[in-house]
Amino acid sequence: MEYTEKVMDHFANPRNVGEIENASGIGEVGNAQCGDIMKIFLDIDGDVVKDVKFKTFGCGAAVASSSAATEMIKGKTIKEALNVTNKAVVEDLGGLPPAKLHCSVLAQEAIMAALWDYSQKNGITIEGVRPPRAEDHHHE
Ligand code: FES
Repeated sequence: MEYTEKVMDHFANPRNVGEIENASGIGEVGNAQCGDIMKIFLDIDGDVVKDVKFKTFGCGAAVASSSAATEMIKGKTIKEALNVTNKAVVEDLGGLPPAKLHCSVLAQEAIMAALWDYSQKNGITIEGVRPPRAEDHHHE
């Protein structure tokens, strides 16, 4: 399977690249197998993701997945952001080659890690937000 036009577009012109100073939550996850790393910064106001930026040191599919995922959660509530699963990201991209599906998982996990960081920093519990698990980043 080839990359879709949308994947190529997100890869060539990634949205929301960068960092947020004093971010409400930061999530960094890595894939132990390929060594790729994804970092997501969230600016949360109330329960709305006001802004989001990402940095990805990884493959094209990881860049495209992060770009699409940030677009999908920007301006949304935390609850809505939690619905942005890797499946939703892949659908939005019009599909990814099977060997590249794990790259979209990285985006979902980075968002989760950032929301966990936010909840920890504020001493709050958010339904559906769990700590990042080390085994998520391995393929055993
Ligand atoms: Fe590692 Fe894509 S090959 S994230």
